[in-house]
Amino acid sequence: MKTYRIATIPGDGIGKEVIPAGRQVLEALALSERSFTFEFENFDWGGDYFRQHGMMMPVDGLDALLKKDAILFGSAGDPDIPDHITLWGLRLKICQGLDQYANVRPTRILPGIDGPLKRCKSEDLNWVIVRENTEGEYSGVGGRMHQGHPIEVATDLSLMTRAGVERIHRYAFRLAQSRPRKLLTVITKSNAQRHAMVMWDEIAAQVAKEFPDVKWDKELVDAATARMVNRPASLDTIVATNLHADILSDLAAALAGSMGIAPTGNINPERLYPSMFEPIHGSAFDIMGKGVANPVGTFWSVVMLLEHLGEFEAAARVMQAIEHVTANPALHTPDLGGTATTAEVTAAVCAQVTSTAKSHLTVA
Ligand code: IPM
Ligand code: MG
Repeated sequence: MKTYRIATIPGDGIGKEVIPAGRQVLEALALSERSFTFEFENFDWGGDYFRQHGMMMPVDGLDALLKKDAILFGSAGDPDIPDHITLWGLRLKICQGLDQYANVRPTRILPGIDGPLKRCKSEDLNWVIVRENTEGEYSGVGGRMHQGHPIEVATDLSLMTRAGVERIHRYAFRLAQSRPRKLLTVITKSNAQRHAMVMWDEIAAQVAKEFPDVKWDKELVDAATARMVNRPASLDTIVATNLHADILSDLAAALAGSMGIAPTGNINPERLYPSMFEPIHGSAFDIMGKGVANPVGTFWSVVMLLEHLGEFEAAARVMQAIEHVTANPALHTPDLGGTATTAEVTAAVCAQVTSTAKSHLTVA
């Protein structure tokens, strides 16, 4: 029987609540499957680790992850530690260190969920945002000098490489090609940013030639926000720079009903390194410890993890279980206007996963 080695990194805040829930779903799945099993290793990295060791993860932490087939990540962020330290010390260290250059963020309005766009039918909103995940505005290049003096200066350089832009566009075109509508929108801001974004556009046009069957267009990032609200059905696959996609994906998640639902995969497409899957919601200190965090973002991330491992049937089964549960308003957590707890939603998804197992069906 195949065994997948999974690293779990709950991190901070509600990550500590939703990652164990995600693991429970994977365990329920493995119990009801005959073809594979999981070997989990948990890493207690994050804010608490920082308080003890002065760093978010050990210096050789990446080495431990290299041996894994996939990583399930919660969130990084602590009320007592500056955000740029938690981010750069853990999540970005992993994404950049393991060259997870394609950040994939699907958005759909799941059954039973009420999106804020009253004129939008749920089938009008079915997007996947591809975020460049290793460079651009998050290059980390820049500096500060004359700190505290009137002549203080600071820079953050948005750095784009031809290789980096080419590979993310190619990934996005390929993904668009694999979806029924074969439609890609390239987000840009080349009217104002006249160097890197112009190169970004040029490379998109070059890569497009390799995909004659994909229809594509370009949209300025500011106009894209209005288009997402006014003409959601005109979009399908979307590719954007690191920061542009960060912003657009929060808008996408909110338009689909809640930040608590949205999943993401940080993918190394060449599979030279393990990929990492996480809900996009972050640590959410306001609700941490209350047991009401929505675990659906983690469960959908688990679906992406399974797809990445090639377990498409199991992935589809978990997705069906999620949709079965969201369709029932009694199983909505407070972010969706309900009163259900993390534990109740998790138990319901696990029960549904178990009851739809092939082994169960043959017995029944
Ligand atoms: C995301 C998050 C992070 C990001 C934060 C936590 C720094 O917003 O994954 O979208 O900006 O990358
Ligand atoms: Mg974000």
